[in-house]
Amino acid sequence: MIEEKVTLLRKQFQQDLQSVRDTQGVEQLKVRYLGKKGPVADLMNALRECSHEERPHFGKQINDLKVEFSALCDGALEAFRKAEVAVQLAHEKLDTTLPGRKKFHGRKHPIGQMMDDVIAVFASMGFSVQYGPDIDSDYYNYEALNFPPDHPAREMQDTFYLSTDMLLRSHTSNTQMRVMEKNTPPIRIIAPGTVYRNEEITARSHVFFHQVEGVYIDRGVTFSDLIVTMEEFWKKLFRKEIETRFRPSYFPFVEPGMEVDIRCTACQGSGCRLCKQTGWLEVAGSGLIHPEVLKNGGIDPEVYSGYAWGLGIERLAMLRYGIHDIRLFAENDLRFLSQF
Ligand code: DAH
Repeated sequence: MIEEKVTLLRKQFQQDLQSVRDTQGVEQLKVRYLGKKGPVADLMNALRECSHEERPHFGKQINDLKVEFSALCDGALEAFRKAEVAVQLAHEKLDTTLPGRKKFHGRKHPIGQMMDDVIAVFASMGFSVQYGPDIDSDYYNYEALNFPPDHPAREMQDTFYLSTDMLLRSHTSNTQMRVMEKNTPPIRIIAPGTVYRNEEITARSHVFFHQVEGVYIDRGVTFSDLIVTMEEFWKKLFRKEIETRFRPSYFPFVEPGMEVDIRCTACQGSGCRLCKQTGWLEVAGSGLIHPEVLKNGGIDPEVYSGYAWGLGIERLAMLRYGIHDIRLFAENDLRFLSQF
């Protein structure tokens, strides 16, 4: 009776084991057959009904069955585990031949880069850096710089007034007076910064842009010092010989006032779209500091003289990179910015 049951159970177990598909199935099978309420345990209980003589014989058979099931289960478990690990490894395999994904790196704005380059050149020529305020009074931005009260630049359409007296500076020249007030000559500084104009935003003009002002005051400073400094600066900035040209112009705070041109960097002077066929590019305003301005700054024009200039950073960056629209600098479009 027990013998038959053992044979049947072995057959049944082998069949069930065949249909198991994974480690979980094996665990379940093991519990089902060898658990406390499983068929092997039932057989063990049935032993009690056997005679004393039969018991060891059948007991051994059932025990062997138990050991056999257990071993078969362990073998199947091991096989399934290996297969599962193999699948997982194949799935997680690294393909080292795939191209890497580029990480996005932020970098300095092209205007900041241009500004750094300009500052570095003037620093190498002995100029130190001073910063003036973006919000300033009419006095520092205009009055002390010899602008007559009815000068057109002071009108509402050009200047952002914050009150009757306070404004957003329209040029970095506002720093000139502060430097003169606080120092005695020799003075040799540059003043970089943002400037603001109440203008229509177009490809060529914006409501804010950047300038670098320069001031040099000492005994016996002449126009030829200004020319040499300018020539040297452009040569150093572009790392090649650059021809400069000075044209008379009017700025209230200098006398004489000059417009500085350089030979067109795109066509070398033969005439192109960039220089509007003139062969020259306007790059800065400059001149010898007006005696009235020196006086306003507490400096005796009988003893000292000086020169000043102001140049626009956007214009330089546009020349350097061949950019035709100033608005691009303020739009924060990464497709544009990531090229620099
Ligand atoms: N401040 C002038 C402007 O924004 C530029 C300028 C001209 C600055 C002549 C100077 C100068 O220092 O001497 O248009």
